[in-house]
Amino acid sequence: MKQMIVTLPGDGIGRVVLEATIQVLDAAGFSANYIEADIGWEFWRSEGNPLPQRTLDIIAEHKIALFGAITSKPKDEAFAELVPELQEQGLVYSSPIVGLRQHFGLDICLRPCRTYKGNPLNFIRRSADGGVEEPEVDVAIFRQNTEGLYGGVEWSDPPTQVHEALMTHPKFRSNFGDVPVEDISLSTRIFTKKATERILRAAFEYARKYDYQSVTLCEKPNVIRETSGMMYKMAQEIQGTDFPDIELWNTNIDAQMMWLTKNPENYGVIVAGNMFGDIVSDGFAGLIGGLGFAASAQYNPDTGVGVFEPTHGSAPKYAGYPVSIVNPIAMTESACMMLDFIDEQNIAIKIRRAVAEVIDEGQVRTYDMARLPGNADVIHRGAASTDEMTAAIIGKLI
Ligand code: NAI
Ligand code: MG
Repeated sequence: MKQMIVTLPGDGIGRVVLEATIQVLDAAGFSANYIEADIGWEFWRSEGNPLPQRTLDIIAEHKIALFGAITSKPKDEAFAELVPELQEQGLVYSSPIVGLRQHFGLDICLRPCRTYKGNPLNFIRRSADGGVEEPEVDVAIFRQNTEGLYGGVEWSDPPTQVHEALMTHPKFRSNFGDVPVEDISLSTRIFTKKATERILRAAFEYARKYDYQSVTLCEKPNVIRETSGMMYKMAQEIQGTDFPDIELWNTNIDAQMMWLTKNPENYGVIVAGNMFGDIVSDGFAGLIGGLGFAASAQYNPDTGVGVFEPTHGSAPKYAGYPVSIVNPIAMTESACMMLDFIDEQNIAIKIRRAVAEVIDEGQVRTYDMARLPGNADVIHRGAASTDEMTAAIIGKLI
Protein backbone atom coordinates (compact mmCIF):
# COMPACT_ATOMS: atom_id res chain seq x y z
CA MET A 1 0.00 0.00 0.00
CA LYS A 2 1.28 3.45 -0.87
CA GLN A 3 2.26 5.79 1.97
CA MET A 4 -0.21 8.65 2.44
CA ILE A 5 1.36 12.04 3.08
CA VAL A 6 -0.65 15.07 4.09
CA THR A 7 0.63 18.25 2.45
CA LEU A 8 0.10 21.57 4.21
CA PRO A 9 1.39 24.21 1.79
CA GLY A 10 0.15 27.16 3.87
CA ASP A 11 0.97 30.64 2.58
CA GLY A 12 3.48 32.50 0.47
CA ILE A 13 6.58 30.53 -0.43
CA GLY A 14 5.31 27.57 1.61
CA ARG A 15 3.63 26.19 -1.49
CA VAL A 16 6.63 26.92 -3.70
CA VAL A 17 9.15 24.99 -1.60
CA LEU A 18 6.70 22.18 -0.94
CA GLU A 19 6.00 21.62 -4.62
CA ALA A 20 9.71 21.66 -5.39
CA THR A 21 10.31 19.08 -2.68
CA ILE A 22 7.60 16.76 -3.92
CA GLN A 23 9.28 16.78 -7.31
CA VAL A 24 12.51 15.69 -5.62
CA LEU A 25 10.72 12.96 -3.65
CA ASP A 26 9.10 11.63 -6.83
CA ALA A 27 12.36 11.66 -8.74
CA ALA A 28 14.10 9.84 -5.88
CA GLY A 29 11.59 7.01 -6.21
CA PHE A 30 9.53 7.72 -3.10
CA SER A 31 6.14 6.35 -3.89
CA ALA A 32 3.36 8.12 -2.02
CA ASN A 33 -0.11 9.54 -2.36
CA TYR A 34 -0.38 13.17 -1.31
CA ILE A 35 -3.47 14.68 0.16
CA GLU A 36 -3.56 18.45 0.53
CA ALA A 37 -5.06 20.03 3.64
CA ASP A 38 -5.95 23.64 4.47
CA ILE A 39 -3.91 25.75 6.84
CA GLY A 40 -2.92 29.38 7.15
CA TRP A 41 -3.92 32.95 6.60
CA GLU A 42 -6.38 32.40 3.79
CA PHE A 43 -8.50 30.19 6.07
CA TRP A 44 -8.29 32.68 8.92
CA ARG A 45 -9.63 35.38 6.61
CA SER A 46 -12.40 33.37 5.04
CA GLU A 47 -13.44 31.08 7.94
CA GLY A 48 -11.99 32.68 11.05
CA ASN A 49 -9.84 29.60 11.67
CA PRO A 50 -6.32 29.10 10.28
CA LEU A 51 -6.39 25.43 11.33
CA PRO A 52 -9.82 24.02 10.40
CA GLN A 53 -11.13 20.85 12.05
CA ARG A 54 -11.12 19.04 8.69
CA THR A 55 -7.33 19.52 8.54
CA LEU A 56 -6.92 18.06 12.04
CA ASP A 57 -9.03 15.08 10.96
CA ILE A 58 -6.95 14.42 7.86
CA ILE A 59 -3.70 14.57 9.85
CA ALA A 60 -5.15 12.32 12.56
CA GLU A 61 -6.01 9.77 9.89
CA HIS A 62 -2.75 9.78 7.95
CA LYS A 63 -0.30 10.84 10.68
CA ILE A 64 2.53 12.16 8.47
CA ALA A 65 2.50 15.74 7.18
CA LEU A 66 4.80 17.96 5.17
CA PHE A 67 4.27 21.59 6.03
CA GLY A 68 5.44 24.60 4.01
CA ALA A 69 4.98 27.82 6.01
CA ILE A 70 2.23 30.14 7.10
CA THR A 71 1.74 33.88 7.38
CA SER A 72 0.62 35.42 10.62
CA LYS A 73 0.01 39.07 11.42
CA PRO A 74 -0.52 41.17 14.56
CA LYS A 75 -3.88 41.26 16.32
CA ASP A 76 -5.34 44.41 14.73
CA GLU A 77 -4.42 43.43 11.20
CA ALA A 78 -5.74 39.94 11.77
CA PHE A 79 -9.07 41.36 12.78
CA ALA A 80 -9.20 43.84 9.90
CA GLU A 81 -8.56 41.15 7.29
CA LEU A 82 -11.41 38.89 8.39
CA VAL A 83 -14.31 38.80 5.93
CA PRO A 84 -16.92 41.29 7.15
CA GLU A 85 -19.48 38.62 8.21
CA LEU A 86 -16.98 37.25 10.73
CA GLN A 87 -15.87 40.54 12.25
CA GLU A 88 -18.67 40.65 14.83
CA GLN A 89 -17.96 37.20 16.25
CA GLY A 90 -15.16 38.01 18.64
CA LEU A 91 -12.74 35.61 16.94
CA VAL A 92 -9.12 35.69 18.07
CA TYR A 93 -6.27 34.58 15.81
CA SER A 94 -3.96 31.96 17.20
CA SER A 95 -1.00 30.36 15.47
CA PRO A 96 -1.91 27.17 13.62
CA ILE A 97 1.62 25.86 14.21
CA VAL A 98 1.23 26.13 17.96
CA GLY A 99 -2.27 24.72 17.49
CA LEU A 100 -0.90 21.64 15.70
CA ARG A 101 1.71 21.08 18.39
CA GLN A 102 -0.84 21.28 21.17
CA HIS A 103 -3.56 19.27 19.43
CA PHE A 104 -1.34 16.33 18.52
CA GLY A 105 1.04 16.63 21.46
CA LEU A 106 4.00 17.07 19.11
CA ASP A 107 6.27 17.58 22.06
CA ILE A 108 9.53 16.51 20.45
CA CYS A 109 11.08 19.02 18.07
CA LEU A 110 14.29 18.06 16.30
CA ARG A 111 16.36 20.62 14.41
CA PRO A 112 19.57 19.28 12.92
CA CYS A 113 22.28 21.72 11.82
CA ARG A 114 24.95 20.15 9.63
CA THR A 115 27.55 21.82 7.48
CA TYR A 116 27.32 21.13 3.77
CA LYS A 117 30.79 21.10 2.30
CA GLY A 118 31.23 23.93 -0.17
CA ASN A 119 28.34 26.03 1.08
CA PRO A 120 29.57 29.62 0.73
CA LEU A 121 27.43 30.54 3.75
CA ASN A 122 29.33 28.24 6.13
CA PHE A 123 30.68 29.84 9.28
CA ILE A 124 34.41 30.53 9.24
CA ARG A 125 36.70 31.75 12.02
CA ARG A 126 40.25 32.94 12.38
CA SER A 127 42.78 30.30 13.38
CA ALA A 128 45.74 30.77 15.73
CA ASP A 129 48.15 31.38 12.84
CA GLY A 130 45.94 34.12 11.41
CA GLY A 131 44.48 31.92 8.69
CA VAL A 132 40.87 30.92 8.28
CA GLU A 133 39.20 27.74 9.50
CA GLU A 134 35.82 26.33 8.59
CA PRO A 135 34.71 24.14 11.50
CA GLU A 136 32.38 21.30 10.60
CA VAL A 137 29.11 21.64 12.48
CA ASP A 138 27.08 18.51 13.13
CA VAL A 139 24.56 19.08 15.87
CA ALA A 140 21.05 17.83 16.48
CA ILE A 141 18.98 20.11 18.67
CA PHE A 142 16.08 18.65 20.65
CA ARG A 143 13.67 21.34 21.73
CA GLN A 144 10.74 20.69 24.06
CA ASN A 145 7.89 21.85 21.91
CA THR A 146 4.73 22.21 23.99
CA GLU A 147 5.39 23.78 27.37
CA GLY A 148 7.71 26.28 29.05
CA LEU A 149 7.51 29.92 28.03
CA TYR A 150 5.47 29.05 24.93
CA GLY A 151 2.83 27.21 26.95
CA GLY A 152 0.48 30.19 26.64
CA VAL A 153 -0.29 30.51 30.37
CA GLU A 154 0.07 34.27 30.75
CA TRP A 155 -1.71 37.39 31.90
CA SER A 156 -1.56 41.14 31.83
CA ASP A 157 -3.25 42.63 34.89
CA PRO A 158 -3.65 39.11 36.34
CA PRO A 159 -6.87 38.16 38.12
CA THR A 160 -7.03 38.54 41.90
CA GLN A 161 -6.61 34.84 42.63
CA VAL A 162 -3.43 34.69 40.60
CA HIS A 163 -2.09 37.83 42.23
CA GLU A 164 -2.91 36.49 45.67
CA ALA A 165 -1.16 33.24 44.91
CA LEU A 166 1.93 35.15 43.76
CA MET A 167 1.86 37.15 47.00
CA THR A 168 2.43 33.91 48.92
CA HIS A 169 5.94 33.80 47.42
CA PRO A 170 8.42 35.80 49.53
CA LYS A 171 10.38 36.98 46.49
CA PHE A 172 7.25 38.23 44.78
CA ARG A 173 6.22 40.10 47.93
CA SER A 174 9.58 41.77 48.35
CA ASN A 175 10.31 42.54 44.70
CA PHE A 176 6.86 43.16 43.23
CA GLY A 177 4.49 43.42 46.20
CA ASP A 178 4.13 47.21 45.83
CA VAL A 179 3.51 47.17 42.06
CA PRO A 180 -0.13 47.89 41.13
CA VAL A 181 -1.57 44.67 39.69
CA GLU A 182 -2.61 46.41 36.48
CA ASP A 183 1.06 47.21 35.86
CA ILE A 184 2.06 43.54 35.92
CA SER A 185 2.41 41.24 32.92
CA LEU A 186 3.23 37.66 33.67
CA SER A 187 4.22 34.75 31.40
CA THR A 188 4.70 31.41 33.11
CA ARG A 189 7.42 28.87 32.41
CA ILE A 190 5.91 25.52 33.30
CA PHE A 191 7.97 22.30 32.96
CA THR A 192 6.36 18.95 33.74
CA LYS A 193 8.32 15.83 34.65
CA LYS A 194 6.62 13.80 31.97
CA ALA A 195 7.38 16.11 29.05
CA THR A 196 10.87 16.84 30.35
CA GLU A 197 11.68 13.16 30.57
CA ARG A 198 10.37 12.58 27.04
CA ILE A 199 12.55 15.24 25.44
CA LEU A 200 15.61 14.15 27.43
CA ARG A 201 15.14 10.51 26.47
CA ALA A 202 14.57 11.42 22.83
CA ALA A 203 17.89 13.29 22.86
CA PHE A 204 19.84 10.46 24.50
CA GLU A 205 18.31 7.81 22.26
CA TYR A 206 19.20 9.82 19.18
CA ALA A 207 22.76 10.26 20.43
CA ARG A 208 23.09 6.51 20.84
CA LYS A 209 21.48 5.70 17.50
CA TYR A 210 23.64 8.10 15.50
CA ASP A 211 26.87 7.73 17.51
CA TYR A 212 27.15 11.13 19.11
CA GLN A 213 29.41 11.08 22.15
CA SER A 214 27.65 13.78 24.13
CA VAL A 215 24.30 15.27 25.00
CA THR A 216 24.47 18.90 26.12
CA LEU A 217 21.69 20.24 28.30
CA CYS A 218 21.44 23.92 27.38
CA GLU A 219 19.42 25.74 30.04
CA LYS A 220 20.27 27.94 33.02
CA PRO A 221 19.91 25.79 36.15
CA ASN A 222 22.04 28.01 38.37
CA VAL A 223 19.54 30.89 38.03
CA ILE A 224 16.24 29.37 36.88
CA ARG A 225 16.49 26.86 39.66
CA GLU A 226 13.12 25.15 39.57
CA THR A 227 12.50 24.48 35.88
CA SER A 228 16.01 24.35 34.41
CA GLY A 229 17.13 22.83 37.71
CA MET A 230 14.61 20.02 37.47
CA MET A 231 15.60 19.35 33.87
CA TYR A 232 19.29 19.11 34.76
CA LYS A 233 18.65 16.81 37.69
CA MET A 234 16.51 14.54 35.51
CA ALA A 235 19.15 14.57 32.78
CA GLN A 236 21.77 13.41 35.29
CA GLU A 237 19.53 10.60 36.52
CA ILE A 238 18.59 9.39 33.02
CA GLN A 239 22.18 9.52 31.85
CA GLY A 240 23.41 7.72 34.99
CA THR A 241 20.91 4.87 34.79
CA ASP A 242 20.30 4.35 31.09
CA PHE A 243 22.96 6.12 29.04
CA PRO A 244 26.30 5.84 30.88
CA ASP A 245 28.03 5.43 27.49
CA ILE A 246 27.04 8.99 26.51
CA GLU A 247 28.50 12.05 28.19
CA LEU A 248 26.18 14.66 29.67
CA TRP A 249 27.39 18.24 29.33
CA ASN A 250 25.66 21.19 30.94
CA THR A 251 25.86 24.67 29.43
CA ASN A 252 24.01 27.89 30.14
CA ILE A 253 22.08 29.30 27.20
CA ASP A 254 23.88 32.65 27.30
CA ALA A 255 27.34 31.12 27.40
CA GLN A 256 26.31 28.60 24.75
CA MET A 257 25.44 31.40 22.35
CA MET A 258 28.97 32.70 22.75
CA TRP A 259 30.60 29.28 22.45
CA LEU A 260 28.72 28.32 19.38
CA THR A 261 30.90 30.57 17.28
CA LYS A 262 34.01 29.65 19.25
CA ASN A 263 33.90 25.87 19.07
CA PRO A 264 30.70 24.69 17.38
CA GLU A 265 32.38 21.46 16.23
CA ASN A 266 32.58 20.26 19.82
CA TYR A 267 28.85 19.82 20.26
CA GLY A 268 26.73 16.82 19.29
CA VAL A 269 23.21 16.48 20.56
CA ILE A 270 21.79 19.49 22.39
CA VAL A 271 18.60 19.40 24.44
CA ALA A 272 16.67 22.35 25.86
CA GLY A 273 13.28 23.66 26.88
CA ASN A 274 11.03 25.44 24.44
CA MET A 275 12.38 29.01 24.40
CA PHE A 276 16.08 28.19 24.80
CA GLY A 277 15.75 25.41 22.24
CA ASP A 278 14.32 27.92 19.79
CA ILE A 279 17.17 30.34 20.45
CA VAL A 280 20.04 27.87 20.31
CA SER A 281 18.70 26.22 17.14
CA ASP A 282 18.51 29.57 15.33
CA GLY A 283 22.05 30.28 16.49
CA PHE A 284 23.39 27.03 15.06
CA ALA A 285 21.31 27.42 11.89
CA GLY A 286 23.18 30.67 11.25
CA LEU A 287 26.45 28.71 11.12
CA ILE A 288 25.28 26.38 8.36
CA GLY A 289 23.65 28.85 5.99
CA GLY A 290 20.56 30.20 7.72
CA LEU A 291 16.94 29.95 6.74
CA GLY A 292 17.50 28.36 3.34
CA PHE A 293 19.00 25.33 5.14
CA ALA A 294 17.28 24.99 8.52
CA ALA A 295 14.89 22.03 8.75
CA SER A 296 12.77 20.63 11.54
CA ALA A 297 10.68 17.69 12.63
CA GLN A 298 8.00 17.75 15.31
CA TYR A 299 6.47 14.51 16.43
CA ASN A 300 4.74 12.50 19.07
CA PRO A 301 6.56 9.19 19.56
CA ASP A 302 3.47 7.53 21.10
CA THR A 303 0.99 8.22 18.31
CA GLY A 304 3.43 8.39 15.41
CA VAL A 305 2.07 11.74 14.26
CA GLY A 306 4.87 13.80 12.70
CA VAL A 307 4.93 17.19 10.99
CA PHE A 308 8.05 18.10 8.99
CA GLU A 309 8.75 21.70 8.01
CA PRO A 310 11.47 24.20 7.19
CA THR A 311 12.18 26.70 9.96
CA HIS A 312 11.62 29.68 7.67
CA GLY A 313 8.32 31.48 7.24
CA SER A 314 6.22 32.37 4.22
CA ALA A 315 8.53 35.21 3.03
CA PRO A 316 5.52 37.06 1.54
CA LYS A 317 7.68 39.52 -0.37
CA TYR A 318 8.95 36.68 -2.59
CA ALA A 319 5.67 34.86 -2.90
CA GLY A 320 4.38 36.60 -6.00
CA TYR A 321 7.57 36.46 -8.08
CA PRO A 322 6.92 35.10 -11.58
CA VAL A 323 10.16 33.12 -11.24
CA SER A 324 10.63 32.01 -7.66
CA ILE A 325 14.06 32.70 -6.17
CA VAL A 326 13.84 31.00 -2.77
CA ASN A 327 16.00 28.13 -1.67
CA PRO A 328 14.10 24.82 -1.49
CA ILE A 329 16.82 22.98 0.47
CA ALA A 330 15.39 23.58 3.96
CA MET A 331 12.10 22.03 2.84
CA THR A 332 13.89 19.19 1.06
CA GLU A 333 15.92 18.39 4.17
CA SER A 334 12.68 18.47 6.20
CA ALA A 335 11.27 15.87 3.82
CA CYS A 336 14.41 13.76 4.38
CA MET A 337 13.68 13.90 8.11
CA MET A 338 10.21 12.63 7.30
CA LEU A 339 11.75 9.77 5.32
CA ASP A 340 13.98 8.91 8.32
CA PHE A 341 10.88 8.92 10.52
CA ILE A 342 8.93 6.50 8.32
CA ASP A 343 11.93 4.20 7.76
CA GLU A 344 12.70 5.22 4.23
CA GLN A 345 16.30 6.04 5.07
CA ASN A 346 17.63 4.81 1.74
CA ILE A 347 15.71 7.45 -0.15
CA ALA A 348 16.71 10.09 2.40
CA ILE A 349 20.38 9.17 1.95
CA LYS A 350 20.02 9.43 -1.82
CA ILE A 351 18.44 12.89 -1.65
CA ARG A 352 20.91 14.20 0.91
CA ARG A 353 23.80 12.98 -1.23
CA ALA A 354 22.36 14.77 -4.27
CA VAL A 355 21.89 18.02 -2.33
CA ALA A 356 25.43 17.76 -0.96
CA GLU A 357 26.84 17.29 -4.47
CA VAL A 358 25.00 20.28 -5.89
CA ILE A 359 26.24 22.48 -3.05
CA ASP A 360 29.80 21.22 -3.25
CA GLU A 361 30.01 21.73 -7.03
CA GLY A 362 28.86 25.32 -6.58
CA GLN A 363 27.48 25.71 -10.11
CA VAL A 364 23.89 26.22 -9.01
CA ARG A 365 23.29 28.61 -6.15
CA THR A 366 20.12 30.36 -5.06
CA TYR A 367 20.34 34.09 -4.25
CA ASP A 368 20.97 33.52 -0.55
CA MET A 369 23.95 31.28 -1.35
CA ALA A 370 25.20 33.83 -3.85
CA ARG A 371 24.91 36.49 -1.13
CA LEU A 372 22.71 38.70 -3.28
CA PRO A 373 20.01 40.96 -1.85
CA GLY A 374 16.67 39.25 -2.43
CA ASN A 375 14.81 40.73 -5.39
CA ALA A 376 13.50 39.60 -8.76
CA ASP A 377 16.66 40.79 -10.45
CA VAL A 378 18.88 38.09 -8.92
CA ILE A 379 18.16 35.62 -11.69
CA HIS A 380 19.83 38.00 -14.17
CA ARG A 381 22.75 38.31 -11.81
CA GLY A 382 23.48 34.60 -11.93
CA ALA A 383 21.44 33.23 -9.04
CA ALA A 384 19.54 30.00 -9.62
CA SER A 385 15.77 30.02 -9.37
CA THR A 386 13.92 27.60 -7.10
CA ASP A 387 13.18 25.45 -10.16
CA GLU A 388 16.79 25.43 -11.29
CA MET A 389 17.97 24.37 -7.85
CA THR A 390 15.29 21.67 -7.77
CA ALA A 391 16.31 20.42 -11.21
CA ALA A 392 19.98 20.39 -10.20
CA ILE A 393 19.19 18.22 -7.16
CA ILE A 394 17.07 15.88 -9.27
CA GLY A 395 19.89 15.70 -11.80
CA LYS A 396 22.21 14.30 -9.13
CA LEU A 397 19.87 11.57 -7.91
CA ILE A 398 21.19 8.15 -8.76
P1 NAI B 1 10.62 34.49 6.82
O1 NAI B 1 11.36 33.27 7.26
O2 NAI B 1 9.40 34.27 6.05
O3 NAI B 1 11.58 35.39 5.95
C1 NAI B 1 12.68 36.11 6.44
C2 NAI B 1 13.71 36.31 5.34
O4 NAI B 1 14.46 35.10 5.24
C3 NAI B 1 13.10 36.51 3.97
O5 NAI B 1 12.87 37.84 3.66
C4 NAI B 1 14.17 35.92 3.10
O6 NAI B 1 15.19 36.90 2.93
C5 NAI B 1 14.73 34.82 3.91
N1 NAI B 1 14.20 33.49 3.55
C6 NAI B 1 13.20 32.81 4.16
N2 NAI B 1 13.03 31.63 3.58
C7 NAI B 1 13.94 31.54 2.60
C8 NAI B 1 14.26 30.55 1.65
N3 NAI B 1 13.63 29.37 1.58
N4 NAI B 1 15.26 30.81 0.78
C9 NAI B 1 15.91 31.96 0.81
N5 NAI B 1 15.67 32.94 1.67
C10 NAI B 1 14.68 32.74 2.57
O7 NAI B 1 10.32 35.33 8.15
P2 NAI B 1 9.55 36.73 8.33
O8 NAI B 1 9.80 37.63 7.19
O9 NAI B 1 9.88 37.15 9.69
O10 NAI B 1 8.01 36.34 8.35
C11 NAI B 1 7.19 36.29 7.20
C12 NAI B 1 5.89 35.60 7.57
O11 NAI B 1 6.16 34.24 7.89
C13 NAI B 1 5.23 36.21 8.80
O12 NAI B 1 3.85 36.28 8.58
C14 NAI B 1 5.57 35.24 9.91
O13 NAI B 1 4.59 35.23 10.91
C15 NAI B 1 5.61 33.92 9.16
N6 NAI B 1 6.46 32.89 9.76
C16 NAI B 1 6.01 31.61 9.67
C17 NAI B 1 6.78 30.57 10.13
C18 NAI B 1 6.29 29.20 9.88
O14 NAI B 1 5.38 29.00 9.13
N7 NAI B 1 6.91 28.20 10.47
C19 NAI B 1 8.08 30.78 10.78
C20 NAI B 1 8.51 32.18 10.75
C21 NAI B 1 7.70 33.18 10.29
MG1 MG C 1 12.36 30.46 15.57
